[in-house]
Amino acid sequence: MESAVRFEDVSFFYPKREIEVVDSDIRAVENPDEVTQVFASVTTELPAGMMAVIGQNGYGKSTLLLLAAGRLFPHEGRVTVFGTDTSAFRDADRDPEVEQERNRYASFIYQNMEFESDQSVGELMEYVYNNGFHESRDSRLPDELTRVLELHGFLTKRMQHLAKGQLQRAIIAFSVLYGSRMIVMDEPVFALEEPQKDRAFGFLMEYSRVQNVPVYYSVHNLELSQKYSDYLLLFERDRSFVVGPTAELFTRDRIEAAYQAPMDTLHRRDSLYREVMIRAAE
Ligand SMILES: Nc1ncnc2c1ncn2[C@@H]1O[C@H](COP(=O)(O)OP(=O)(O)O)[C@@H](O)[C@H]1O
Ligand SMILES: [Mg+2]
Repeated sequence: MESAVRFEDVSFFYPKREIEVVDSDIRAVENPDEVTQVFASVTTELPAGMMAVIGQNGYGKSTLLLLAAGRLFPHEGRVTVFGTDTSAFRDADRDPEVEQERNRYASFIYQNMEFESDQSVGELMEYVYNNGFHESRDSRLPDELTRVLELHGFLTKRMQHLAKGQLQRAIIAFSVLYGSRMIVMDEPVFALEEPQKDRAFGFLMEYSRVQNVPVYYSVHNLELSQKYSDYLLLFERDRSFVVGPTAELFTRDRIEAAYQAPMDTLHRRDSLYREVMIRAAE
C-alpha cells in the first residue's frame, strides 16, 4: 500500500465543552481543566487512494480528516502529507501564502459548509479552476463536472441562494477543479438524492484513480462507503481504528462489531441521520 499521509505518535485533544445556561441562553463553554482526548499516540499510514472513514458518532472521524489535511495539528507527534510535516501549515489562518501552500497539498470540504459569494456558481468554477493547481486546463473537466453533478440548472445562481444539495454538489465541483494533491471531505453528500450520490462518488473514484489523487471522506451511508472506496478506515468499538482494503475490512461481522448494532438497523439509522442533518442545515 502506497501511503499519502502518515501519523507518527499523534496525540490530539479538545478542551472539554460544557453546556451552560445563562439568562435562558444556552452556551457551550470550555473547561480548561478537562479535555476530550481523541487520539493518544497513534501511528498509522493512510493510503494514496480513495478511502472512506466510517465508525460511530463522536469517535473521531472529523478530527482525523482535519488532522490529515493540515486543518488541525497534533499536540504531540506529527502528521506528514506527501512527506511534508503539516506543522509547516500552522500559520495558514494568518498567512495567505501558507494557506495556499497548504491547500495545494489538500483541499477540505467541511461538514455542513456554508458559502456566501457575490459571484455565481459558474463564475466561481472558472475562478477556482484558473487559480488552482491543475497543470493544464481546458473546458473538459468543468463540463464533465457540470454534467455529472447536474450543475446546469443553477450555474448563474449565487451560493447563498442554493438548496443544500445544490450547494454540496457545487462545492464538490470546486474541490476537483482546484487541483490539490489530495481531497478530503467530511460528510459531503448527505443532502443529495441517492442517484446523485452514486454519480458524485463514481466520478470521484475515477478521478482519484486516473489522476492519482487520494480522496478521503467520511460518510454515514455504509453502502456508499463500501461501493466507492479502495480502502476503509474503520473506527472500532474501542475507538481505535484499522486501515485496509475495503474488500478485506467490509464484512458484516466487522461492521456490526464496530457499530455494536445489526446491519439492518444501521441502514435505518442512515436515513434518520440524513433527515436530522438536513434539518440542521436549514
Ligand atoms: N471543536 C470541538 N471542541 C470540543 N470537543 C470536540 C470538538 N469537535 C469534536 N469534539 C469531540 O471530539 C470527539 C471526536 O469528535 P469528531 O471528530 O467530530 O467525531 P465524529 O466525526 O466521528 O463524529 C467527540 O467526543 C466530540 O464531542
Ligand atoms: Mg464528524
